[in-house]
Amino acid sequence: MDRTTTAQLNPARLGSGPPAGPSAELSLSPPRPAHRVLRVRAARVLHGNWTGTSTVPSRDLYPHQWSWDSAFIAIGLRHLSPLRAQLELETLLGAQWGDGRVPHIVFNPDVPLDAYFPSPDFWRSTTAGSRAGAPRAVQTSGIVQPPVHALAALLVHRADPGLSRARSFLPRIHRRLAAWHHYLLHHRDAGGAGLAAVVHPWEQGMDNSPCWDGPLSRVRPASAGTFRRADLDHGAAQDRPTDLDYGRYVRLAMDYRDRQYADQHTGVDGGFGDFAVEDPAFNALLIASEQALARISLELGPEYREDAALRRARGERLTRVLVERLWDPAEGMFLCRDLKGPTHLSSESAPTEPTQLTPGGRLLPVRAVGGLLPLVLPGLPGELARALVRTACGPHFGLGPGSGVRLAPSYDLTGDAYDPHRYWRGPAWINTNWLLERGLRTHGETSLADRLRAELLAVAGESGFAEYVDPYTGRGRGARGFSWSAALTLDLLLGEGVNDD
Ligand code: SER
Repeated sequence: MDRTTTAQLNPARLGSGPPAGPSAELSLSPPRPAHRVLRVRAARVLHGNWTGTSTVPSRDLYPHQWSWDSAFIAIGLRHLSPLRAQLELETLLGAQWGDGRVPHIVFNPDVPLDAYFPSPDFWRSTTAGSRAGAPRAVQTSGIVQPPVHALAALLVHRADPGLSRARSFLPRIHRRLAAWHHYLLHHRDAGGAGLAAVVHPWEQGMDNSPCWDGPLSRVRPASAGTFRRADLDHGAAQDRPTDLDYGRYVRLAMDYRDRQYADQHTGVDGGFGDFAVEDPAFNALLIASEQALARISLELGPEYREDAALRRARGERLTRVLVERLWDPAEGMFLCRDLKGPTHLSSESAPTEPTQLTPGGRLLPVRAVGGLLPLVLPGLPGELARALVRTACGPHFGLGPGSGVRLAPSYDLTGDAYDPHRYWRGPAWINTNWLLERGLRTHGETSLADRLRAELLAVAGESGFAEYVDPYTGRGRGARGFSWSAALTLDLLLGEGVNDD
């Protein structure tokens, strides 16, 4: 049931002039006719993908609720309906597990099992996840996605503080967000330095990034005959991950499920399964969200002041750890740290030895857009921010003027594995570029940010809010009418900065 009233979701206000309410005051520039049309088109995508309690990323390819998608969607949806944006986050967090994890998919029971793989009968959250406190009333996956949620919650609150207070949005959501961050900081600190590790490429969100080629080469793939991919029913095979990679994703998820979603355990692999990586984007978003949670605490009143101070200090400490662990001065960017045994970069054959946890790990020599995203952190040392901007504008990402690149690619334009069409191995994504745009603005790079914003708006419109695009031409790949592409377009048209106080 759609609980949003007509007054709260008024499409008319989208087509004629700035919307009423706080977002109108924050609009970056007076709406131009082309931007008005874009707003209406983006709003239509979000209306069409709304299920009554949340938003599907895409009707065909992703017919359930996805975790980091919902956070980005809420950031855009707040401009249309602050109530829907609150519900989006509440529905997701309503499926939180007892140990604090927020699952990467919340399944819609009305969608047929074969519409998406891996389906609920693969994850078996209500049985395999019961020790970790999976909810009984709803089926979910057992892995996570990047923690953008506190940041989204703060922005959603600010879109309509009156509604937020009337519904006690922040007090209710603060508890869940705090448990979510606690899970990541305490159950996922595989390296022992304070950063959260991801245990599956889907957790970092950039599924088949070349970053994972080394670590994944150690994973024995599930045999092709044991599962059926549903993504190829809706997406072109050359735009999606390969079958070999898919077999490895399935193996990692199956192993995690079969050890009942336990993180630290006493298996031969020293805990955390065969894949454990500290990723700069995941951790930068955790830090940004921890800082947002500190601001939410301040909103909640004087009794939360200590909580806010602790979170602010933690954000500062984790920023230092991020730099110590993942910054590569020679590359001028952040890299991923592989916490498991030696890699076999050239081999596609199954490994014979179990992998061991090596908390020191090693940096993976792969340039991917995630290594630029710590730019969203206002507390990043100035010289690192400047180096990141140089790298973003250089030959590997091409954001500087005159390169012919419209949006930052997901992976190094000059890298051996670069493919402008295949999922996270080269195409540009709206969410990563939205984060870069915010990061550039945060660090005073206004003209680069303005240029990126203009390209984002143009490409989003031309591509029909594609899931991802060719970084040079902007031609769309993957799904069209993709929710976060539409939502973040709305936010670029109507929003405030990520780090604005
Ligand atoms: N992004 C993954 C998929 O393509 C997993 O959530 O299904």
